[in-house]
Amino acid sequence: MVDKSSPLFDFTPYLAQRDEVLGLIREFASHHAFRSAAVEELQLDEDFYRRPLRPEDLEFLQFKKAVPAERVSRLPALATQRLLMALNEVGVARFPKADVADGFARFDAFYGERNQVLGARIRPFLEHYGFTFLGNEARLGDTAAQYVERLRDVIAHEQTYWKDMFALLMHNDYLAEGLRFIMIQRWSLTPSRRVAVARAVASGYFDSVAEGDRPDLASPAQDPLLARVAEFAGVTHREHSYWQFYLPTSMAKCNLLYALGSRPDRAFALLGAVFVAEAEALAFSAALARACPHLMSPGAAPADAASSVEALVARFSRALGQVERRFGSEALFRTGQGVGAGEKLAERARWDLGEQLKWLSAIDRFVEFADRIDQRIAVECPGIDRETFVEPRDMCSTTHVHNDHRLVVIRSSTPGGAVQMHFWGNLGMRHEMKEGDKVLIPDGRLHGSTVVCEECTYDQPIIPDEWIAELLDCTSVPASVAA
Ligand SMILES: [Fe+2]
Repeated sequence: MVDKSSPLFDFTPYLAQRDEVLGLIREFASHHAFRSAAVEELQLDEDFYRRPLRPEDLEFLQFKKAVPAERVSRLPALATQRLLMALNEVGVARFPKADVADGFARFDAFYGERNQVLGARIRPFLEHYGFTFLGNEARLGDTAAQYVERLRDVIAHEQTYWKDMFALLMHNDYLAEGLRFIMIQRWSLTPSRRVAVARAVASGYFDSVAEGDRPDLASPAQDPLLARVAEFAGVTHREHSYWQFYLPTSMAKCNLLYALGSRPDRAFALLGAVFVAEAEALAFSAALARACPHLMSPGAAPADAASSVEALVARFSRALGQVERRFGSEALFRTGQGVGAGEKLAERARWDLGEQLKWLSAIDRFVEFADRIDQRIAVECPGIDRETFVEPRDMCSTTHVHNDHRLVVIRSSTPGGAVQMHFWGNLGMRHEMKEGDKVLIPDGRLHGSTVVCEECTYDQPIIPDEWIAELLDCTSVPASVAA
């Protein structure tokens, strides 16, 4: 039970268990299904039992201080959300393919008690670690009308964001590629969001509200449009083929629903959070229909965005009314906690995706920045902190993020100036790098690479924040995207 002032999540009491749980986290991640990706596994061919977790990172991640809101794109957050997606979905049945020799062995291994029990033991620790920054936005005494306004604000922010985002992608000539990355976040994760909610609904979590007034994530009304856009963008495989390209904040949206949906005493919070998730889905579909009118089904009238918004807001208002009448102000507050958590996570996810797309869609500019930074290093601090890697052919890094700004500088010489590394931050991206080539990776940007020569030596100087700020200040940066 929570008392009236309890936050939704609080990592403090879990810190004492850190040593024990850290061992269990490493043990969970050492399962074969979670090993790092090989070069041919950039896309996973609908392999639900294969989820590269980069277990090697868990040797140094400390899990000491809960993830703060401003660091949702960093490595501890990415590792936490990947772990949570893996352990939450060992409870989701997906059958082995008939034509795979060891299909049933892998089916049994993925769903075995080892993963179930270890997953259950590390789950609360990871959820409180990853979500403590959420759920403290509601106050006892806030009215239903105030929450209704907040839902309207979420819709308005999302609508503005997508409008600006599609304009940026068109301006940077990156619409098809950008849509690919976006659809991986939105479309490929739709089944996960739905199953998290559907099983909570089946367990009575929304029984506080009349059936017709509940939030609805399962409505297939927008699915044909989303499926067509996904196909247009090359996102045609089912989950989780694109596992490596999920941003931490995209997975966090699913994991938040799993977290609230597995705690009956958070049923009111789940109700609020799912209304926000529905609002996000509605705003996205409407923006997509406007940005890609040619992908609407022939003869279909574009969805009337304004009337859909009004219908959702009216339903939310009726739901809040029922919650308050039947269960009082405490229930309204708890629903508000879920609204606040969903609202804040939506804002953080807009920021995270926006930064990724600003980087990907202007990668040439970040190559140029890297050249300038490299020159500055030579003049001002040749001894700057750097890591150096020597890697053999086919050495592939599972996608990851860094907690600092880095350059990648290819150092070793290969006869003939051949391509030494493929670098990417999006499905289908292949930025070819030769001796002397450089690229800037801002902190928190998801990327990976593969060595394509016999041996590649590269440096990663770590760049101070001030240098990046100065560079962005005095350069025409890509059009800003509303957060
Ligand atoms: Fe890296």
